[in-house]
Amino acid sequence: MTENRRIAEILRNGKPEESVKIQGWVRTKRELKGFAFMEVNDGSYLANLQVVLEPKLPNYEQLLKHLNVGASVEVTGVLAESQGKGQQIEMKASLVKIYGEANPETYPLQKKRHSFEFLRTIGHLRSRTNTLGAVFRVRNACSSAIHQFFRERGFLWIHTPIITTSDCEGAGELFTVTSLDPTASNQQDYSQDFFGSPAYLTVSGQLEAEAMAMAFRDVYTFGPTFRAENSNTSRHLAEFWMVEPEMAFCDLGGDMDLAEAFLKYVFSFVLETCPEDMEFFNKRMDQSVLATADNIINNEFERISYTDAIALLEKTNRKFQYPVEWGLDLQSEHERYLSQDYFQKPVIVTDYPTGIKAFYMRLNDDAKTVAAMDVLAPKIGEIIGGAQREERLDVLERRMHEAGMPADDLWWYLDLRRYGTVPHAGFGLGFERLVQFMTGMDNIRDVIPFPRTPLNAEF
Ligand code: 4AD
Ligand code: MG
Repeated sequence: MTENRRIAEILRNGKPEESVKIQGWVRTKRELKGFAFMEVNDGSYLANLQVVLEPKLPNYEQLLKHLNVGASVEVTGVLAESQGKGQQIEMKASLVKIYGEANPETYPLQKKRHSFEFLRTIGHLRSRTNTLGAVFRVRNACSSAIHQFFRERGFLWIHTPIITTSDCEGAGELFTVTSLDPTASNQQDYSQDFFGSPAYLTVSGQLEAEAMAMAFRDVYTFGPTFRAENSNTSRHLAEFWMVEPEMAFCDLGGDMDLAEAFLKYVFSFVLETCPEDMEFFNKRMDQSVLATADNIINNEFERISYTDAIALLEKTNRKFQYPVEWGLDLQSEHERYLSQDYFQKPVIVTDYPTGIKAFYMRLNDDAKTVAAMDVLAPKIGEIIGGAQREERLDVLERRMHEAGMPADDLWWYLDLRRYGTVPHAGFGLGFERLVQFMTGMDNIRDVIPFPRTPLNAEF
Protein backbone atom coordinates (compact mmCIF):
# COMPACT_ATOMS: atom_id res chain seq x y z
CA MET A 1 0.00 0.00 0.00
CA THR A 2 1.50 3.32 -0.97
CA GLU A 3 1.60 6.11 1.54
CA ASN A 4 -1.11 8.06 -0.22
CA ARG A 5 -3.34 5.01 -0.22
CA ARG A 6 -2.96 4.85 3.54
CA ILE A 7 -3.82 8.50 3.71
CA ALA A 8 -6.87 7.76 1.59
CA GLU A 9 -7.95 5.33 4.30
CA ILE A 10 -7.40 8.03 6.89
CA LEU A 11 -9.39 10.49 4.79
CA ARG A 12 -12.23 7.99 4.61
CA ASN A 13 -12.26 7.37 8.32
CA GLY A 14 -11.47 10.94 9.29
CA LYS A 15 -8.82 9.90 11.83
CA PRO A 16 -5.65 11.98 11.59
CA GLU A 17 -2.37 10.22 12.17
CA GLU A 18 1.03 11.39 13.23
CA SER A 19 4.08 11.96 11.05
CA VAL A 20 4.00 10.52 7.53
CA LYS A 21 6.10 10.66 4.41
CA ILE A 22 4.47 10.84 1.02
CA GLN A 23 5.70 10.81 -2.55
CA GLY A 24 3.91 11.97 -5.64
CA TRP A 25 3.44 14.70 -8.20
CA VAL A 26 2.38 18.26 -7.55
CA ARG A 27 -1.09 18.95 -8.94
CA THR A 28 -1.55 22.56 -7.78
CA LYS A 29 0.35 25.24 -5.94
CA ARG A 30 -1.01 28.43 -4.37
CA GLU A 31 1.15 31.05 -2.76
CA LEU A 32 -0.50 33.21 -0.13
CA LYS A 33 0.84 35.81 2.23
CA GLY A 34 3.14 34.10 4.71
CA PHE A 35 2.56 30.51 3.55
CA ALA A 36 1.66 28.33 0.59
CA PHE A 37 -0.45 25.30 -0.30
CA MET A 38 0.27 22.55 -2.73
CA GLU A 39 -1.71 19.48 -3.63
CA VAL A 40 0.10 16.20 -4.20
CA ASN A 41 -1.18 13.01 -5.79
CA ASP A 42 0.41 9.61 -6.42
CA GLY A 43 -2.46 8.11 -8.39
CA SER A 44 -3.69 5.82 -5.63
CA TYR A 45 -6.72 7.94 -4.79
CA LEU A 46 -8.92 10.55 -6.45
CA ALA A 47 -8.46 13.34 -3.92
CA ASN A 48 -5.15 15.14 -3.66
CA LEU A 49 -3.44 15.58 -0.36
CA GLN A 50 -3.21 19.23 0.57
CA VAL A 51 0.18 20.17 1.92
CA VAL A 52 0.76 23.37 3.88
CA LEU A 53 4.15 24.96 3.33
CA GLU A 54 5.31 27.41 5.96
CA PRO A 55 8.21 29.88 5.83
CA LYS A 56 10.10 27.99 8.55
CA LEU A 57 10.75 25.20 6.01
CA PRO A 58 14.41 24.99 4.99
CA ASN A 59 15.01 27.07 1.84
CA TYR A 60 11.37 28.19 1.75
CA GLU A 61 11.76 30.87 -0.96
CA GLN A 62 13.85 28.65 -3.26
CA LEU A 63 11.54 25.71 -2.67
CA LEU A 64 8.48 27.67 -3.75
CA LYS A 65 10.18 28.66 -6.99
CA HIS A 66 10.87 25.06 -7.91
CA LEU A 67 7.71 23.41 -6.62
CA ASN A 68 5.71 23.69 -9.80
CA VAL A 69 2.77 21.71 -11.11
CA GLY A 70 4.06 18.37 -12.43
CA ALA A 71 7.16 18.21 -10.22
CA SER A 72 7.83 15.00 -8.29
CA VAL A 73 8.24 15.37 -4.55
CA GLU A 74 8.70 13.63 -1.25
CA VAL A 75 7.09 15.38 1.68
CA THR A 76 7.56 14.58 5.34
CA GLY A 77 5.08 16.10 7.75
CA VAL A 78 2.23 15.75 10.18
CA LEU A 79 -1.39 15.16 9.26
CA ALA A 80 -3.94 17.37 10.94
CA GLU A 81 -7.58 18.32 10.68
CA SER A 82 -7.82 20.93 7.99
CA GLN A 83 -8.87 24.46 8.86
CA GLY A 84 -9.96 25.16 5.32
CA LYS A 85 -12.95 23.97 3.34
CA GLY A 86 -12.88 21.10 0.84
CA GLN A 87 -10.80 18.55 2.72
CA GLN A 88 -10.83 17.00 6.16
CA ILE A 89 -7.14 16.39 6.42
CA GLU A 90 -4.09 18.33 5.42
CA MET A 91 -0.40 17.86 5.93
CA LYS A 92 1.93 20.35 7.51
CA ALA A 93 5.26 19.84 5.79
CA SER A 94 8.46 19.70 7.82
CA LEU A 95 10.66 18.62 4.91
CA VAL A 96 10.18 18.74 1.14
CA LYS A 97 12.46 17.01 -1.32
CA ILE A 98 12.09 17.69 -5.01
CA TYR A 99 12.99 14.73 -7.21
CA GLY A 100 12.31 16.21 -10.62
CA GLU A 101 11.15 19.68 -11.58
CA ALA A 102 8.58 20.54 -14.23
CA ASN A 103 9.00 23.76 -16.14
CA PRO A 104 5.74 25.74 -15.88
CA GLU A 105 6.42 27.32 -19.27
CA THR A 106 6.32 24.00 -21.06
CA TYR A 107 4.56 21.41 -18.83
CA PRO A 108 1.30 20.88 -20.71
CA LEU A 109 -0.93 19.93 -17.77
CA GLN A 110 -1.64 23.16 -16.03
CA LYS A 111 -4.50 23.49 -13.56
CA LYS A 112 -7.42 23.92 -15.92
CA ARG A 113 -9.77 21.63 -17.74
CA HIS A 114 -8.29 20.14 -20.86
CA SER A 115 -10.33 18.53 -23.62
CA PHE A 116 -10.02 14.76 -24.04
CA GLU A 117 -8.86 15.39 -27.60
CA PHE A 118 -5.97 17.44 -26.31
CA LEU A 119 -5.17 14.92 -23.59
CA ARG A 120 -4.89 12.18 -26.22
CA THR A 121 -1.98 14.11 -27.76
CA ILE A 122 -0.13 13.81 -24.44
CA GLY A 123 -0.85 10.14 -23.80
CA HIS A 124 2.31 9.86 -21.71
CA LEU A 125 1.10 12.50 -19.23
CA ARG A 126 -2.69 12.36 -19.27
CA SER A 127 -2.92 9.70 -16.55
CA ARG A 128 -1.93 12.46 -14.12
CA THR A 129 -5.35 14.07 -14.51
CA ASN A 130 -8.31 13.38 -12.22
CA THR A 131 -10.47 11.82 -14.91
CA LEU A 132 -7.91 9.52 -16.49
CA GLY A 133 -6.65 8.60 -13.04
CA ALA A 134 -10.16 7.54 -12.05
CA VAL A 135 -10.60 5.65 -15.33
CA PHE A 136 -7.48 3.57 -14.85
CA ARG A 137 -8.27 2.78 -11.23
CA VAL A 138 -11.72 1.58 -12.31
CA ARG A 139 -10.15 -0.35 -15.18
CA ASN A 140 -7.83 -2.05 -12.71
CA ALA A 141 -10.74 -2.87 -10.39
CA CYS A 142 -12.62 -4.39 -13.34
CA SER A 143 -9.65 -6.68 -14.08
CA SER A 144 -9.50 -7.82 -10.46
CA ALA A 145 -13.25 -8.40 -10.41
CA ILE A 146 -13.06 -10.51 -13.55
CA HIS A 147 -10.36 -12.80 -12.23
CA GLN A 148 -12.08 -13.07 -8.87
CA PHE A 149 -15.43 -13.89 -10.48
CA PHE A 150 -14.00 -16.74 -12.52
CA ARG A 151 -11.81 -18.02 -9.73
CA GLU A 152 -14.80 -18.24 -7.40
CA ARG A 153 -16.57 -20.34 -10.03
CA GLY A 154 -13.66 -22.67 -10.62
CA PHE A 155 -12.76 -21.46 -14.11
CA LEU A 156 -9.22 -22.10 -15.25
CA TRP A 157 -7.44 -18.99 -16.53
CA ILE A 158 -5.72 -19.92 -19.76
CA HIS A 159 -3.46 -17.95 -22.08
CA THR A 160 -4.30 -18.17 -25.73
CA PRO A 161 -1.82 -17.18 -28.43
CA ILE A 162 -1.50 -13.69 -29.82
CA ILE A 163 -0.04 -14.94 -33.09
CA THR A 164 -2.42 -17.21 -34.93
CA THR A 165 -3.03 -18.63 -38.39
CA SER A 166 -6.83 -18.56 -38.31
CA ASP A 167 -9.43 -15.83 -38.63
CA CYS A 168 -11.81 -16.86 -35.87
CA GLU A 169 -14.52 -14.39 -36.78
CA GLY A 170 -14.07 -14.87 -40.53
CA ALA A 171 -14.43 -11.13 -41.01
CA GLY A 172 -11.02 -10.65 -42.65
CA GLU A 173 -10.00 -7.86 -40.26
CA LEU A 174 -6.55 -9.30 -39.67
CA PHE A 175 -3.18 -7.70 -39.14
CA THR A 176 -0.51 -9.79 -40.84
CA VAL A 177 2.55 -10.90 -38.88
CA THR A 178 5.61 -11.40 -41.00
CA SER A 179 9.37 -11.22 -40.74
CA LEU A 180 9.82 -10.77 -44.49
CA ASP A 181 11.17 -7.51 -45.81
CA PRO A 182 8.17 -5.76 -47.37
CA THR A 183 10.33 -4.36 -50.17
CA ALA A 184 11.80 -7.75 -51.11
CA SER A 185 10.42 -9.75 -54.01
CA ASN A 186 9.69 -12.87 -51.92
CA GLN A 187 7.14 -11.14 -49.71
CA GLN A 188 4.25 -13.35 -50.89
CA ASP A 189 6.23 -16.57 -50.53
CA TYR A 190 5.06 -17.75 -47.13
CA SER A 191 7.38 -20.76 -47.16
CA GLN A 192 10.17 -18.20 -46.72
CA ASP A 193 8.35 -16.48 -43.89
CA PHE A 194 8.98 -17.01 -40.17
CA PHE A 195 6.11 -19.43 -39.57
CA GLY A 196 6.15 -20.95 -43.04
CA SER A 197 2.52 -19.92 -43.51
CA PRO A 198 0.48 -16.73 -43.33
CA ALA A 199 0.20 -15.58 -39.73
CA TYR A 200 -1.83 -12.86 -38.04
CA LEU A 201 -2.48 -11.10 -34.78
CA THR A 202 -5.42 -12.83 -33.15
CA VAL A 203 -8.94 -11.37 -33.37
CA SER A 204 -10.17 -13.70 -30.62
CA GLY A 205 -8.84 -16.49 -28.42
CA GLN A 206 -12.06 -18.42 -28.71
CA LEU A 207 -11.02 -21.35 -30.90
CA GLU A 208 -8.08 -22.19 -28.64
CA ALA A 209 -10.27 -21.60 -25.57
CA GLU A 210 -12.68 -24.20 -26.95
CA ALA A 211 -9.84 -26.71 -27.16
CA MET A 212 -8.90 -25.99 -23.55
CA ALA A 213 -12.54 -26.24 -22.42
CA MET A 214 -12.55 -29.78 -23.82
CA ALA A 215 -9.99 -30.65 -21.15
CA PHE A 216 -10.84 -28.42 -18.20
CA ARG A 217 -14.55 -27.84 -18.71
CA ASP A 218 -14.70 -24.17 -17.65
CA VAL A 219 -11.93 -21.85 -18.80
CA TYR A 220 -11.43 -18.20 -19.65
CA THR A 221 -8.90 -16.12 -21.45
CA PHE A 222 -8.30 -12.41 -20.91
CA GLY A 223 -5.86 -10.80 -23.27
CA PRO A 224 -5.26 -8.40 -26.12
CA THR A 225 -6.98 -8.88 -29.47
CA PHE A 226 -6.47 -7.01 -32.70
CA ARG A 227 -8.74 -5.94 -35.49
CA ALA A 228 -7.80 -4.05 -38.62
CA GLU A 229 -11.33 -2.75 -38.72
CA ASN A 230 -11.35 0.67 -40.29
CA SER A 231 -14.06 1.99 -37.96
CA ASN A 232 -13.21 5.40 -36.68
CA THR A 233 -15.89 5.38 -33.98
CA SER A 234 -16.05 6.06 -30.28
CA ARG A 235 -16.51 2.31 -29.65
CA HIS A 236 -13.78 0.72 -31.78
CA LEU A 237 -10.10 0.13 -31.16
CA ALA A 238 -7.58 -1.70 -33.34
CA GLU A 239 -6.10 -3.24 -30.18
CA PHE A 240 -8.45 -4.09 -27.35
CA TRP A 241 -8.68 -6.55 -24.51
CA MET A 242 -11.20 -9.34 -24.52
CA VAL A 243 -12.49 -11.62 -21.79
CA GLU A 244 -13.58 -14.95 -23.21
CA PRO A 245 -15.05 -17.67 -21.01
CA GLU A 246 -15.79 -21.04 -22.58
CA MET A 247 -17.84 -23.74 -20.88
CA ALA A 248 -18.17 -27.40 -21.82
CA PHE A 249 -21.49 -29.14 -21.07
CA CYS A 250 -23.28 -25.81 -21.43
CA ASP A 251 -25.97 -24.45 -23.72
CA LEU A 252 -27.05 -20.94 -24.72
CA GLY A 253 -29.18 -20.53 -21.58
CA GLY A 254 -26.19 -21.24 -19.35
CA ASP A 255 -24.11 -18.86 -21.42
CA MET A 256 -26.62 -16.02 -20.94
CA ASP A 257 -26.86 -16.74 -17.22
CA LEU A 258 -23.09 -16.50 -16.92
CA ALA A 259 -22.93 -13.23 -18.87
CA GLU A 260 -25.57 -11.65 -16.67
CA ALA A 261 -24.05 -12.86 -13.39
CA PHE A 262 -20.65 -11.71 -14.63
CA LEU A 263 -21.71 -8.13 -15.37
CA LYS A 264 -23.58 -7.86 -12.07
CA TYR A 265 -20.54 -9.08 -10.19
CA VAL A 266 -18.10 -6.71 -11.87
CA PHE A 267 -20.35 -3.68 -11.30
CA SER A 268 -20.84 -4.54 -7.61
CA PHE A 269 -17.14 -5.08 -7.13
CA VAL A 270 -16.20 -1.72 -8.68
CA LEU A 271 -18.84 0.18 -6.70
CA GLU A 272 -17.42 -1.33 -3.56
CA THR A 273 -13.74 -0.80 -4.31
CA CYS A 274 -13.80 2.55 -6.14
CA PRO A 275 -16.72 4.50 -4.63
CA GLU A 276 -15.05 7.92 -4.95
CA ASP A 277 -14.13 7.37 -8.57
CA MET A 278 -17.64 6.20 -9.44
CA GLU A 279 -19.14 9.22 -7.72
CA PHE A 280 -16.74 11.43 -9.63
CA PHE A 281 -17.94 9.96 -12.94
CA ASN A 282 -21.52 10.38 -11.89
CA LYS A 283 -20.95 14.02 -11.07
CA ARG A 284 -18.62 15.02 -13.85
CA MET A 285 -19.07 12.69 -16.82
CA ASP A 286 -22.55 11.28 -16.92
CA GLN A 287 -25.20 11.68 -14.28
CA SER A 288 -26.62 8.25 -14.97
CA VAL A 289 -23.47 6.31 -14.04
CA LEU A 290 -24.63 5.29 -10.55
CA ALA A 291 -28.21 4.69 -11.62
CA THR A 292 -26.94 2.49 -14.45
CA ALA A 293 -24.79 0.49 -12.06
CA ASP A 294 -27.75 0.08 -9.73
CA ASN A 295 -29.92 -0.99 -12.64
CA ILE A 296 -27.40 -3.61 -13.78
CA ILE A 297 -26.95 -5.04 -10.31
CA ASN A 298 -30.59 -5.12 -9.27
CA ASN A 299 -32.65 -5.82 -12.37
CA GLU A 300 -32.88 -8.85 -14.56
CA PHE A 301 -31.63 -8.32 -18.08
CA GLU A 302 -34.19 -8.42 -20.84
CA ARG A 303 -33.97 -11.45 -23.14
CA ILE A 304 -35.45 -11.30 -26.63
CA SER A 305 -34.94 -13.20 -29.88
CA TYR A 306 -33.54 -11.41 -32.91
CA THR A 307 -36.80 -12.10 -34.73
CA ASP A 308 -38.85 -10.41 -31.99
CA ALA A 309 -36.36 -7.55 -31.81
CA ILE A 310 -36.76 -6.92 -35.53
CA ALA A 311 -40.54 -6.92 -35.14
CA LEU A 312 -40.19 -4.39 -32.35
CA LEU A 313 -37.89 -2.16 -34.40
CA GLU A 314 -40.25 -2.33 -37.35
CA LYS A 315 -43.17 -1.21 -35.17
CA THR A 316 -41.54 1.90 -33.71
CA ASN A 317 -41.97 5.38 -35.17
CA ARG A 318 -38.29 6.04 -34.66
CA LYS A 319 -36.47 6.97 -37.89
CA PHE A 320 -33.27 4.99 -38.36
CA GLN A 321 -30.46 5.71 -40.76
CA TYR A 322 -29.97 2.01 -41.59
CA PRO A 323 -32.75 -0.32 -42.77
CA VAL A 324 -34.46 -2.75 -40.41
CA GLU A 325 -35.20 -6.05 -42.05
CA TRP A 326 -35.04 -9.69 -40.97
CA GLY A 327 -31.69 -11.00 -42.16
CA LEU A 328 -29.78 -7.73 -41.82
CA ASP A 329 -27.42 -7.12 -38.94
CA LEU A 330 -28.46 -4.76 -36.16
CA GLN A 331 -26.64 -1.44 -36.34
CA SER A 332 -25.54 0.53 -33.27
CA GLU A 333 -28.56 2.81 -33.58
CA HIS A 334 -30.88 -0.22 -33.41
CA GLU A 335 -28.95 -1.73 -30.51
CA ARG A 336 -29.10 1.51 -28.60
CA TYR A 337 -32.78 1.96 -29.28
CA LEU A 338 -33.50 -1.47 -27.83
CA SER A 339 -31.40 -1.19 -24.68
CA GLN A 340 -31.36 2.52 -23.95
CA ASP A 341 -34.79 3.69 -25.08
CA TYR A 342 -37.11 0.73 -25.20
CA PHE A 343 -36.11 -1.59 -22.37
CA GLN A 344 -33.87 0.89 -20.55
CA LYS A 345 -31.55 -1.86 -19.37
CA PRO A 346 -29.22 -4.45 -20.85
CA VAL A 347 -30.89 -6.66 -23.42
CA ILE A 348 -29.73 -10.08 -24.53
CA VAL A 349 -30.67 -10.65 -28.15
CA THR A 350 -30.57 -14.29 -29.22
CA ASP A 351 -30.91 -16.53 -32.26
CA TYR A 352 -29.60 -14.36 -35.06
CA PRO A 353 -29.90 -15.30 -38.74
CA THR A 354 -27.20 -17.71 -39.88
CA GLY A 355 -25.97 -15.35 -42.58
CA ILE A 356 -24.80 -12.57 -40.28
CA LYS A 357 -22.98 -14.62 -37.66
CA ALA A 358 -19.74 -16.59 -37.50
CA PHE A 359 -19.35 -20.16 -38.76
CA TYR A 360 -18.85 -21.73 -35.33
CA MET A 361 -22.29 -20.87 -33.90
CA ARG A 362 -24.65 -23.76 -33.39
CA LEU A 363 -27.34 -24.12 -36.03
CA ASN A 364 -30.86 -24.03 -34.57
CA ASP A 365 -33.55 -26.54 -35.53
CA ASP A 366 -35.19 -23.98 -37.82
CA ALA A 367 -31.99 -24.11 -39.94
CA LYS A 368 -32.32 -20.32 -40.42
CA THR A 369 -30.90 -19.06 -37.15
CA VAL A 370 -27.96 -19.83 -34.88
CA ALA A 371 -27.71 -20.05 -31.08
CA ALA A 372 -26.00 -16.66 -30.78
CA MET A 373 -26.42 -14.09 -28.06
CA ASP A 374 -25.33 -10.47 -27.92
CA VAL A 375 -25.64 -8.41 -24.75
CA LEU A 376 -26.58 -4.84 -25.66
CA ALA A 377 -25.99 -2.08 -23.15
CA PRO A 378 -27.53 1.39 -22.98
CA LYS A 379 -25.34 3.97 -24.76
CA ILE A 380 -22.70 1.41 -25.77
CA GLY A 381 -24.67 -1.11 -27.80
CA GLU A 382 -22.97 -4.50 -28.11
CA ILE A 383 -20.79 -5.18 -25.11
CA ILE A 384 -20.76 -8.99 -25.22
CA GLY A 385 -20.99 -11.35 -28.18
CA GLY A 386 -21.32 -15.07 -27.60
CA ALA A 387 -22.86 -18.32 -28.72
CA GLN A 388 -23.42 -21.96 -28.17
CA ARG A 389 -20.85 -23.60 -30.44
CA GLU A 390 -21.58 -26.13 -33.19
CA GLU A 391 -20.51 -29.42 -31.64
CA ARG A 392 -21.78 -31.71 -34.45
CA LEU A 393 -18.99 -32.57 -36.89
CA ASP A 394 -21.14 -32.90 -40.01
CA VAL A 395 -23.03 -29.67 -39.41
CA LEU A 396 -19.82 -27.78 -38.63
CA GLU A 397 -18.14 -29.06 -41.78
CA ARG A 398 -21.08 -27.95 -43.85
CA ARG A 399 -21.18 -24.53 -42.20
CA MET A 400 -17.45 -24.02 -42.70
CA HIS A 401 -17.79 -24.93 -46.33
CA GLU A 402 -20.67 -22.48 -46.77
CA ALA A 403 -18.71 -19.74 -44.99
CA GLY A 404 -15.64 -20.38 -47.13
CA MET A 405 -13.53 -21.28 -44.09
CA PRO A 406 -10.43 -23.33 -44.91
CA ALA A 407 -11.08 -26.73 -43.30
CA ASP A 408 -7.43 -27.71 -43.78
CA ASP A 409 -6.15 -25.04 -41.45
CA LEU A 410 -8.79 -25.80 -38.84
CA TRP A 411 -8.31 -29.57 -38.85
CA TRP A 412 -7.62 -29.47 -35.13
CA TYR A 413 -10.85 -27.55 -34.45
CA LEU A 414 -12.75 -30.27 -36.31
CA ASP A 415 -10.87 -32.94 -34.33
CA LEU A 416 -12.46 -31.57 -31.17
CA ARG A 417 -15.81 -32.69 -32.68
CA ARG A 418 -14.36 -36.10 -33.52
CA TYR A 419 -13.05 -36.92 -30.09
CA GLY A 420 -15.32 -36.43 -27.11
CA THR A 421 -17.42 -33.58 -28.41
CA VAL A 422 -19.93 -31.98 -26.02
CA PRO A 423 -22.37 -29.08 -26.18
CA HIS A 424 -20.42 -25.99 -25.19
CA ALA A 425 -20.82 -22.25 -25.16
CA GLY A 426 -18.98 -19.06 -24.38
CA PHE A 427 -18.79 -15.37 -25.02
CA GLY A 428 -16.44 -12.47 -25.56
CA LEU A 429 -16.64 -9.25 -23.60
CA GLY A 430 -14.95 -6.17 -24.97
CA PHE A 431 -13.06 -5.03 -21.89
CA GLU A 432 -12.82 -1.37 -22.94
CA ARG A 433 -16.51 -1.27 -23.75
CA LEU A 434 -17.16 -2.51 -20.23
CA VAL A 435 -14.98 0.22 -18.73
CA GLN A 436 -16.65 2.78 -20.99
CA PHE A 437 -20.08 1.60 -19.96
CA MET A 438 -19.16 1.66 -16.30
CA THR A 439 -17.57 5.11 -16.24
CA GLY A 440 -19.82 6.89 -18.73
CA MET A 441 -16.77 7.96 -20.74
CA ASP A 442 -17.80 9.04 -24.24
CA ASN A 443 -14.85 7.73 -26.16
CA ILE A 444 -13.26 4.29 -25.95
CA ARG A 445 -9.84 5.90 -26.58
CA ASP A 446 -10.03 7.38 -23.10
CA VAL A 447 -10.43 4.09 -21.23
CA ILE A 448 -7.23 2.39 -22.44
CA PRO A 449 -3.86 3.93 -21.54
CA PHE A 450 -2.43 3.99 -25.07
CA PRO A 451 -5.15 3.55 -27.70
CA ARG A 452 -4.46 2.15 -31.17
CA THR A 453 -6.84 3.35 -33.84
CA PRO A 454 -6.61 3.98 -37.59
CA LEU A 455 -3.63 6.29 -38.26
CA ASN A 456 -2.67 6.33 -34.59
CA ALA A 457 -0.21 4.13 -32.71
CA GLU A 458 1.77 6.80 -30.89
CA PHE A 459 3.28 6.24 -27.45
O1 4AD B 1 -18.61 -10.10 -31.03
P1 4AD B 1 -17.17 -10.42 -31.19
O2 4AD B 1 -16.57 -10.21 -32.53
O3 4AD B 1 -17.02 -11.92 -30.72
C1 4AD B 1 -15.92 -12.68 -30.77
O4 4AD B 1 -14.82 -12.34 -31.11
C2 4AD B 1 -16.16 -14.07 -30.24
N1 4AD B 1 -15.10 -14.94 -30.73
C3 4AD B 1 -16.20 -14.03 -28.74
C4 4AD B 1 -16.47 -15.37 -28.11
O5 4AD B 1 -17.55 -15.86 -28.21
N2 4AD B 1 -15.52 -15.93 -27.41
O6 4AD B 1 -16.32 -9.59 -30.13
C5 4AD B 1 -16.59 -9.70 -28.75
C6 4AD B 1 -16.70 -8.35 -28.11
C7 4AD B 1 -17.77 -7.45 -28.69
O7 4AD B 1 -19.02 -7.75 -28.13
C8 4AD B 1 -17.28 -6.07 -28.30
O8 4AD B 1 -17.63 -5.76 -26.98
C9 4AD B 1 -15.78 -6.24 -28.37
O9 4AD B 1 -15.50 -7.62 -28.33
N3 4AD B 1 -15.22 -5.68 -29.60
C10 4AD B 1 -14.50 -4.54 -29.66
N4 4AD B 1 -14.12 -3.68 -28.70
C11 4AD B 1 -13.38 -2.61 -29.06
N5 4AD B 1 -12.98 -2.38 -30.34
C12 4AD B 1 -13.32 -3.23 -31.34
N6 4AD B 1 -12.90 -3.01 -32.58
C13 4AD B 1 -14.12 -4.37 -31.02
N7 4AD B 1 -14.64 -5.39 -31.73
C14 4AD B 1 -15.28 -6.17 -30.85
MG1 MG C 1 -20.14 -9.37 -32.14
